[in-house]
Amino acid sequence: MKIYLKIWRQKDAASKGKMVDYTMEGIEGDMSFLEMLDILNEDLITKGEEPIEFDHDCREGICGTCSLQINGRPHGPDRMITACQLHMRSFNDGDTITIEPFRAKAFPVIKDLIIDRTAFDRIQQAGGYISVNTSGHTIDANTIPIEKENADDSFYAAACIGCGACVAACKNASAMLFTSAKGPASSGKG
Ligand code: SF4
Ligand code: FES
Repeated sequence: MKIYLKIWRQKDAASKGKMVDYTMEGIEGDMSFLEMLDILNEDLITKGEEPIEFDHDCREGICGTCSLQINGRPHGPDRMITACQLHMRSFNDGDTITIEPFRAKAFPVIKDLIIDRTAFDRIQQAGGYISVNTSGHTIDANTIPIEKENADDSFYAAACIGCGACVAACKNASAMLFTSAKGPASSGKG
C-alpha cells in the first residue's frame, strides 16, 4: 500500500507545532500501526533527519502509553483497541492518515506525539485510591456474594489502563472520566 501521512511535529513543549507530510510505500496490511511508524523513523534516521517521537511500551494493549490521535479519533478507527493493536489493514491503499498527540489541556505536548499525563497521577494522589490494612481478621473477599452488575462495574474500573483516550475523546477533556473508568477502551460504551 501507498499511504500519505500528516504527522504533528513539535520540537518541545514551548515550541509551536505543525503538521508535516510524509509518503510511505510498500506498507503491508499485517504491519501494526507502530511498526509503520518504526519504518518511517528508520527512513528519517537514514536520511539524517530527526525521528518522530511517540510513546509505546508493551505493544500488547496493556500499558496504555501508545496514545495517538489517528484521523481525529483516540487510538484510531477500530473499536476497543489501543493504537499499538491497530493494524494497517484497517486502512486502504492511497489513504491519507493524520496522526496527532491526544488533544486535551490536561495533557500538554512534550514533543511530537508524546504528551504529559501526570494529571492522572495527580488525580490518584488526590484520593483516587485508598490503602487498607487487611491483616488480621478480614473476611476473604471471595466469600462475600457480589451482585453481577456490581461485579461487572468493578471489573470495568479495574480494566482501565490509564491510556487517557476518554479524556482526549471528551469534548471538555474532563479528566474526571478517568476516575469513573467508563471510557471507550475499558467499557466498550464509548
Ligand atoms: S477509562 Fe480512559 S484511561 Fe482508562 S482505559 Fe478507558 S479510555 Fe483509557
Ligand atoms: S504500547 Fe502498551 S498499550 Fe499500546
